[in-house]
Amino acid sequence: MKASFLAATLAIVLATVDARPSGHSYTSRGHRQYKDGTIAIFGDYGWKGWTVPTAAECAGLPAVGNCDPADIGSYNDAVAAQERTAKFFGEVCQEHKCNEVMTTGDNFYNIGLENYKHFKESFIDMYTDKSLNIPWNPSLGNHDIVGNVSVSLELNAHKYDSRWYMPSRWYSHDITVKGVKYHFTVLDSSPFISSYRNNPASPYYTKELLTTMTPAMLQTQIDYLDKSSAESDADWKFLVMHHPILSTANNYTNPADMGGLFQVVQKHNLVVLNGHDHVLSHQQGNNTDFFTVGAGSLTAAGDGNNGVYLPYIKYTGSNATYADNGMALLSGTKEELTVQYYEYLQGVKKAAYTATVKHNAHYNITI
Ligand SMILES: *[C@@H]1O[C@H](CO)[C@@H](O)[C@H](O)[C@H]1NC(C)=O
Ligand SMILES: *[C@@H]1O[C@H](CO)[C@@H](O)[C@H](O)[C@H]1NC(C)=O
Ligand SMILES: *[C@@H]1O[C@H](CO)[C@@H](O)[C@H](O)[C@H]1NC(C)=O
Ligand SMILES: *[C@@H]1O[C@H](CO)[C@@H](O)[C@H](O)[C@H]1NC(C)=O
Repeated sequence: MKASFLAATLAIVLATVDARPSGHSYTSRGHRQYKDGTIAIFGDYGWKGWTVPTAAECAGLPAVGNCDPADIGSYNDAVAAQERTAKFFGEVCQEHKCNEVMTTGDNFYNIGLENYKHFKESFIDMYTDKSLNIPWNPSLGNHDIVGNVSVSLELNAHKYDSRWYMPSRWYSHDITVKGVKYHFTVLDSSPFISSYRNNPASPYYTKELLTTMTPAMLQTQIDYLDKSSAESDADWKFLVMHHPILSTANNYTNPADMGGLFQVVQKHNLVVLNGHDHVLSHQQGNNTDFFTVGAGSLTAAGDGNNGVYLPYIKYTGSNATYADNGMALLSGTKEELTVQYYEYLQGVKKAAYTATVKHNAHYNITI
């Protein structure tokens, strides 16, 4: 008890004295090289340790955000899904030698990372398999920007567990596996979402959003993606962010919100990795591949269009009533990128779907 109190106090002190500013220069982990194995993509996971508000605490408050009755009611299911998926993740990574993990955000629910206890329960004591004792490279989701301490805690959480390393709200990094070089540009997508930005009643219209959402700040991220992608000589270049550009969830994201980013994606032939939709799915449009990996805890069949395929939906790990948990692993050659989904379906594990991406692929679906 004492230890966790001290740790929580330390967390606040660290956050206060050592918050790294948005989008500034940082100490990179450097270019990491591995002889073999894969790179894991994982998202929408950290429920355990959320301080669930009581009915009394929510009295008189709007039934959204931290007081959303659906979130409160699903806490136990969410934790159970997180725990079984964590175990499955460890088994998949043992078998396929994951070298690093890229997260697609919503690392911590419901108002982001609250304190050390939350980090310990949802990360340190959750992803314990030794195959997951590898570098984790997080991105921020909409839940991560709600609480006032969340972003600074995430930027500093490497002090609690050196696997975790978020050098900045947006950053880029390189990983080479088997001589194939992968370049990842990680962005903070929440400020792009107009339904947050233009709606003070949104639970995501937060202090953290207000510090990142002006048109000039959005342009800074767009320019950063452009420069980072242009300067890279990698075989495969990615945009990693929480929100989808092309979604299977009833077009939840407004394509216009992401227009500036998507121009840069098309210019540099980037592959897009995102979460937010609580499903595993693959979309194609405008000669671009979009991989949704948001199934680390609670899933939603509706986010996968209830399993109904449309011309731009190449795969969805869902049916009318159910969506699988799981993750994706990247591997491949200089000519062909392989994205393999692993799914955990009601106690049965399966390698569910494999996508192959080629350079300059032509998909005649226009979005
Ligand atoms: C964050 O701080 C602001 C004041 O700066 C306060 O109004 C708001 O309620 C705080 N948000 C949370 C989730 O604690
Ligand atoms: C999304 O929008 C596209 C283009 O308007 C449309 O063809 C498609 O059916 C929509 N998808 C869903 C899941 O509603
Ligand atoms: C997709 O490509 C078409 C044809 O080049 C273009 O007109 C359209 O603006 C692109 N869509 C987006 C969202 O960039
Ligand atoms: C969806 O998949 C789940 C899990 O396999 C299964 O229990 C359920 O019957 C399926 N529903 C439909 C409508 O196919």
